[in-house]
Amino acid sequence: MRKNIVAGNWKMNNGLIQTKTLITELKQQKQTSDAEVMIAPSFTNLWHAFEETRQYPIEVVAQNMHFSDDGAYTGEISAGMLKSIGISTVILGHSERRTYYNETDEALAKKVDTALSQEIRVIFCFGEELADRKSGKHESIVENQIKKGLFHLKADAFKDVILAYEPVWAIGTGETASPEQAQDMHAFIRKTLANKYGQEVANSVSILYGGSVKPNNAKEIFSKTDVDGGLIGGAALNAEDFYAIVNAF
Ligand code: PGA
Repeated sequence: MRKNIVAGNWKMNNGLIQTKTLITELKQQKQTSDAEVMIAPSFTNLWHAFEETRQYPIEVVAQNMHFSDDGAYTGEISAGMLKSIGISTVILGHSERRTYYNETDEALAKKVDTALSQEIRVIFCFGEELADRKSGKHESIVENQIKKGLFHLKADAFKDVILAYEPVWAIGTGETASPEQAQDMHAFIRKTLANKYGQEVANSVSILYGGSVKPNNAKEIFSKTDVDGGLIGGAALNAEDFYAIVNAF
């Protein structure tokens, strides 16, 4: 059956000293849930984070990568580089990447292919903007993002794909989707997957919710049938808050 996952997206926060401190604090926390725990520090701290968490049930994952294997792409990081330091999961398509760096559905589909071909698992992010929700277009926007980013894959590839529904209006705003809104969308996503790949595949894929998940709302959101965990931004920068969320299952 699908796994519960809590992934902390550190975004562009924490230099080496802060990374060391936060990892030390994370290792002191007690995990009481069965959730898979992931953290995504910046590229410069991935190796340190990976080394420091080797003996712990914390997976270090990347926030992004390029779709090419190598070449003249100044400032970019390849799947092979991630693999070379032991990283085997990458976040792709975060709304901040889509918005600020113009990552298109087409580019993301290529990134997905590159990652999977190198045996790197993908946490594929998508979600509607506030105007889409207000105009009732949220489901069709999300359906389109999933289709364009993932529906060229074979069913078998979904064993290495995790979905993360993150309504843009809830990211870093303190405003969360209600547990019902999250459940409705997650059920819709699973139905969309089932229509294309069948119910068995749809049931096997973890669908995370992201957008202002905090210790005080995680339990209710995670209690919903189709919510299999969270992608956590702000609250992942504090070890106690992060583990309160990990343990909210
Ligand atoms: P937030 O970020 O928890 O700070 O809203 C979530 C995310 O961007 O993944």
